[in-house]
Amino acid sequence: MTNTVTPNAAQSGTFRIGGDLSVNRLGFGAMRITGEGIWGDPADREEALATLRRLPELGVNFIDTADSYGPAVSEELIRTALYPYDTVVIATKAGLTRTGPDVWVPLGRPEYLKQQAYLSRRRLGVDRIDLWQLHRIDPTVPRDEQFAAVRELLDEGVIRHAGLSEVGIEEIEAARRFFPVATVQNLYNLVNRKSEEVLDHCEREQIGFIPWYPLAAGGLAREGSVLGEVARRVGGTPSQVALAWVLKRSPVMLPIPGTGKVKHLEENVAAASLQLSEEDFRLLDEVGREEWRQRQAARR
Ligand SMILES: NC(=O)c1ccc[n+]([C@@H]2O[C@H](COP(=O)([O-])OP(=O)(O)OC[C@H]3O[C@@H](n4cnc5c(N)ncnc54)[C@H](OP(=O)(O)O)[C@@H]3O)[C@@H](O)[C@H]2O)c1
Repeated sequence: MTNTVTPNAAQSGTFRIGGDLSVNRLGFGAMRITGEGIWGDPADREEALATLRRLPELGVNFIDTADSYGPAVSEELIRTALYPYDTVVIATKAGLTRTGPDVWVPLGRPEYLKQQAYLSRRRLGVDRIDLWQLHRIDPTVPRDEQFAAVRELLDEGVIRHAGLSEVGIEEIEAARRFFPVATVQNLYNLVNRKSEEVLDHCEREQIGFIPWYPLAAGGLAREGSVLGEVARRVGGTPSQVALAWVLKRSPVMLPIPGTGKVKHLEENVAAASLQLSEEDFRLLDEVGREEWRQRQAARR
């Protein structure tokens, strides 16, 4: 989109996490500021730091990270670039261990979850983590023990709000018997609709819904994707239309597109001011659902 005005995430509107922590809905995913395979240091550390430093200038005040991104690299870079954060809300997670590039193994033993939250708090340099998410429910550990650990972190004041990731409605409700679930972070984008019912549930319950892969890991940012036609018509790029669509899909939607590049960040934030007509929204909705149905059918 040709735009001489500096883009600002405030144009995406706000959402109050846990009812009291207001953020601009268009956030940032800090997984892509690490090395290949989300392992080790980024290839271009200066560009990664510049990307992070640009966030507050663009009104982005919601950053998603995790202990496992790097591991530790993403949280450390966030601290280097942005401490003491001012109005920026940092959400982190734990519950996945790393033994190499692209390897993610759930570990939900309560003592481990608590240790990782303490370590994230130290690395980020905060008294209390704004939002801490259980990255995965470990199927080998009773889930109530994992939820009880989250309750303890809240009670001890280590974390202010708690969320879940990759969960279904039944799991959200099971967790709510232990603590208020402030957010749910599930894979969701125009062409991946497996969490449609979870999203509707979150909207009903005023739980923030954080779609990871909002750009289908970059696939929706490429020219020639299903978004091309609408993008051309509204004068935006495919990635902007993908983000504008998820933002319009629900008022509890908090997309966190990930990038390690200033240019891509600026392009993505400009999506906050892209207004899709009802007609374009519905057209994209149908195109996206159809692509999702076809992919499901091909898998069978
Ligand atoms: N809860 C979970 O289990 C989970 C899993 C995965 C991710 N996450 C979180 O969700 C966030 C978003 O997911 P994601 O980063 O995997 O996927 P994404 O946001 O859908 O896509 C990121 C990819 O798209 C590229 N990209 C971004 N903006 C672009 C643009 N304007 N033009 C062209 N390419 C662009 C990035 O490459 P460049 O760096 O080259 O721009 C990157 O490779 C992550 O950062 C992380 O915080 C959570």
